[in-house]
Amino acid sequence: MPTGMRQLGHQMHMNARELVVTINNAEVTRDTTAILNSLSEVTQACVNCHQAYQLKKGGQ
Ligand code: HEC
Repeated sequence: MPTGMRQLGHQMHMNARELVVTINNAEVTRDTTAILNSLSEVTQACVNCHQAYQLKKGGQ
């Protein structure tokens, strides 16, 4: 796996972990905006990697 891809994957997992913590906290804080912000960070990490790495027909 390319190093950059590994880093992007790591980033996504860190963001996902943060989202879980934020959701747990929101049980007490009722801060739904924090959940949405955290969720958008996870999805941004998905987009970052999909933009950088794509499987292409023809073995490129
Ligand atoms: C470390 C890189 C990486 C991250 C982070 C990542 N993906 Fe992907 N994902 C890929 C690659 C590579 C493919 C294959 C792309 C292709 O077919 O060109 C893929 C394919 C997919 C597909 C299938 C797309 C298709 O056309 O069949 C889905 C759905 C998907 N990813 C969802 C997600 C979601 C949701 C997240 C975030 C929670 C995520 N991915 C994070 C690398 C990543």
